[in-house]
Amino acid sequence: MTKRSTYDVPRAIDWVGGLDGHAALIDQTLLPGKLEIIECHAPETVWHAIKRLSVRGAPAIGIAAAMGVVLGVRDHDEDDVAGFVTRIRGVCDYLAGARPTAINLFWALDRMRKVGESADELGVSATKQALLAEARRIREEDAAMCRAIGEAGLPLIQDGVAVLTHCNAGGLATAELGTALAPLYLAREAGRKFSVYADETRPLLQGARLTAWELGRAGVDVTLICDNAAGACMAAGRINLVITGADCVAANGDVANKIGTYSVAVLAAAHRIPFYVAAPSSTFALDKPTGAAIPIEERAAAEVRSGFGAMTAPKDVRCFNPAFDVTPARLLTGIITERGIISPVREEGIRELLSASATCPDSCAPS
Ligand code: MRU
Repeated sequence: MTKRSTYDVPRAIDWVGGLDGHAALIDQTLLPGKLEIIECHAPETVWHAIKRLSVRGAPAIGIAAAMGVVLGVRDHDEDDVAGFVTRIRGVCDYLAGARPTAINLFWALDRMRKVGESADELGVSATKQALLAEARRIREEDAAMCRAIGEAGLPLIQDGVAVLTHCNAGGLATAELGTALAPLYLAREAGRKFSVYADETRPLLQGARLTAWELGRAGVDVTLICDNAAGACMAAGRINLVITGADCVAANGDVANKIGTYSVAVLAAAHRIPFYVAAPSSTFALDKPTGAAIPIEERAAAEVRSGFGAMTAPKDVRCFNPAFDVTPARLLTGIITERGIISPVREEGIRELLSASATCPDSCAPS
């Protein structure tokens, strides 16, 4: 039998070449059946890739958007500084409209906008190079933060543990390794024996199509369950830890994540099972006091009625399809960040940790 590598996920998103290059992203809508790359040469391609979830997961969305900014301004007239700054702002506003919930999108665009605004001093040509460097840095920093999250969460993954995860917060959702899945990959590397239950995650099946695929490639012992089997698995003692990702963490610790996360957290509390969220500092929004301030994306009814082509409901039945929900901080055992675990989850602890890591910490600074 061939030995499988521990982490074997192709890069979800990368930049290929220099300023005249392109963003290359895996079309995640086709997984696990096909592994195809979309080459993005224009911001419109990036916008559509984010909208239709070809690239998805909060950190990967932020990285894609940063690269989309480069694509949107790189052909700008070198002598037109004022027009360049206006254009940067326009491209950022355009990309910000792709999806509303993942805060990393707005966080990355803010970084790109700030670099773009330095064109007054740097000139257009140097600013274009600075924008490309910033987009690449956002990607590299994310990879480093994911590894640091993995290290912070590793002590939770002891021999014999069975972990439930929801949606996909793995390598496909980030630069590399993932957030919720990073401790699992590092535990596998360390030779620990554990198992994972992956919720299939209706309606778009990120758990079935993506999490089961990437954990399986790494040789992790993974079992796929229907979302509505989670409670029964907990009651039967099959699960003793939950880790999910996050799309946005409010100042008080409320967490927006894939629809169904809240139900899993309620179930975990009912069964006294520790429930952790893994998130880099780029996913926190301290300007949002509670989860009530986080915009929740609503997606098309067709995803519920006829996802993946088969009619599974009457074609005109009314549907409500929120893509995310908010899990209140009181249901969290802890938040695993690149700086360590915040537990208990309280605003003071969050602010204290983030003030120490406003930028990527030394321990995870990219080389
Ligand atoms: O709609 P998606 O697939 O973009 O939703 C993704 C999630 O909810 C993830 O859990 C979250 O973005 C964290 S990814 C590290």
